[in-house]
Amino acid sequence: MEDLYKMLDSQFRPSKQFWEPFYSDRTRPVPFFHNKPDENLHAYIASGLIQPGRALELGCGPGRNAIFLHSKGFRVDAVDISQAAIDWAKERANELLYPIHFQCRSVFELEPREEYDFVYDSGCMHGILPHRRIQYLNMIYNGLKPGGHFGLTCFAPGFGDIGGPQFAMSDWDAYEEKTMKGGLAFTAEKIRYLLSDNFECIELRMMNEMDEDSDLFGVPFLWTSLWRKK
Ligand SMILES: C[S@@+](CC[C@H](N)C(=O)[O-])C[C@H]1O[C@@H](n2cnc3c(N)ncnc32)[C@H](O)[C@@H]1O
Repeated sequence: MEDLYKMLDSQFRPSKQFWEPFYSDRTRPVPFFHNKPDENLHAYIASGLIQPGRALELGCGPGRNAIFLHSKGFRVDAVDISQAAIDWAKERANELLYPIHFQCRSVFELEPREEYDFVYDSGCMHGILPHRRIQYLNMIYNGLKPGGHFGLTCFAPGFGDIGGPQFAMSDWDAYEEKTMKGGLAFTAEKIRYLLSDNFECIELRMMNEMDEDSDLFGVPFLWTSLWRKK
């Protein structure tokens, strides 16, 4: 299987090649460069849907959600494929003296075994190639403790003009065009189809849009969802 996956991987630009330079200019007006957490993540904790415990953030970028989780009492491991993102995340955490375990690693190098109470993905899965998706979701399932939670935030279709993916591509389109054009968009049905065998849906809704001066991050073109391991 791995040989086949690698053959399919080779048809696309490696994701590190895209993401490494993405973080080289920290002044670019990228919404998630601001150090504030997703509004839905804030809500899960404020409402008691998830409790502090051991957390893993996948594709953590410059660490805004990992930092928030630590501030709420979680012990956090966080990985990203971009060294520039991890350097930035470490700087932010060091300024606050937060001992977060940030590592520059691909999610496909991880093999956690029932270690985490909570796994969070904000914008990582929609950039994972379709043939790697099952492997990715199995890793998350295996890494969660029984009854642990998985939070997933990903592109919804139809918002190309305001920052979402320009084209709602199908998985098949991605292989035909050899690109995912910045990330695939998922319908609610597809998210449920991917997760429902192994996870119980606690909440699936669109992200609430937040003002620029809010302490929380919120853009209107993302799904947010919370799942419990069955
Ligand atoms: C849209 S950005 C979101 C960053 C961060 N989660 C946030 O919301 O601020 C997606 C992130 O996933 C990371 N990423 C993509 N593929 C990855 C992989 N295979 N392993 C680890 N990180 C990956 C990218 O480097 C990038 O930082």
